[in-house]
Amino acid sequence: MLGFAFGGSASLIFAVRSSRARLPLRNLARDCVSMAADRAQHSPAAERNALPIRNELRRILKPASGSRPAIMLEIAAGTGQHAVLCSAELPGWVWVPTDPDETAVESIAAWRELEAAQDRVQMPIQLDVRQDPETWLAVGVPSPVDAFFCANMIHIAPWECCVALFKAASHHLREHGCLVTYGPYLEDVLHGIPTAPSNLAFDQSLKSRNPEWGIRKREDVEMVAQRAGLVLSERVQMPANNLLLVWRRA
Ligand SMILES: C[S@@+](CC[C@H](N)C(=O)[O-])C[C@H]1O[C@@H](n2cnc3c(N)ncnc32)[C@H](O)[C@@H]1O
Repeated sequence: MLGFAFGGSASLIFAVRSSRARLPLRNLARDCVSMAADRAQHSPAAERNALPIRNELRRILKPASGSRPAIMLEIAAGTGQHAVLCSAELPGWVWVPTDPDETAVESIAAWRELEAAQDRVQMPIQLDVRQDPETWLAVGVPSPVDAFFCANMIHIAPWECCVALFKAASHHLREHGCLVTYGPYLEDVLHGIPTAPSNLAFDQSLKSRNPEWGIRKREDVEMVAQRAGLVLSERVQMPANNLLLVWRRA
């Protein structure tokens, strides 16, 4: 099993990779680790923000008690680093990562294996958040769930994905469940909180890569939430001008 710190994990992965050409693999177990390491994508940003996010999730999500595990459904799980790291030390919770991208799904599965997280992270599900929530069960998404988590999708996907996220959360969340979103937001117009120059530059670069992308105004996201029957219940300032927002049923 690899250590918690991604720096350590990543360096082991690179060590496995770089040693492959020189050393013949001795057994099947090592072969499997090597194959998983080849599929595991590494995002320095996900590595940096995983621990602060995990600390907040541990505070927000109470340890699950009772006969069934609590379910965290992650949308747009990307590399899978958040799934394996943020799910640690959440007693009684099972994490279900999803992403529409096939390479991401492979990466999540690889991280799950590398971090020996099979007991707390389920196999990833290929899912586009825009799919009709009624059809999610058919692709293996459990419902209802106790929480949703979605990091860094709202600004790096078309606006309709944000709308779909809240619609799906409204559809699949248990009564007292919550949706946790993480990423940058614009708060200057309605809330009077100036946008950091780095986020303004990031917004411009996102829009130049894809005109449908861009950092969203918090009030626009709140409007979408309201239409889905959810309200903002908590706003947490996170490192690097990101916010962690907690949404609950109105
Ligand atoms: C910037 S990455 C964020 C990944 C990860 N959550 C993180 O914070 O490191 C954006 C992710 O959004 C996913 N994504 C894009 N469009 C999506 C959609 N329609 N439904 C669900 N996920 C989507 C991409 O596949 C990608 O993994």
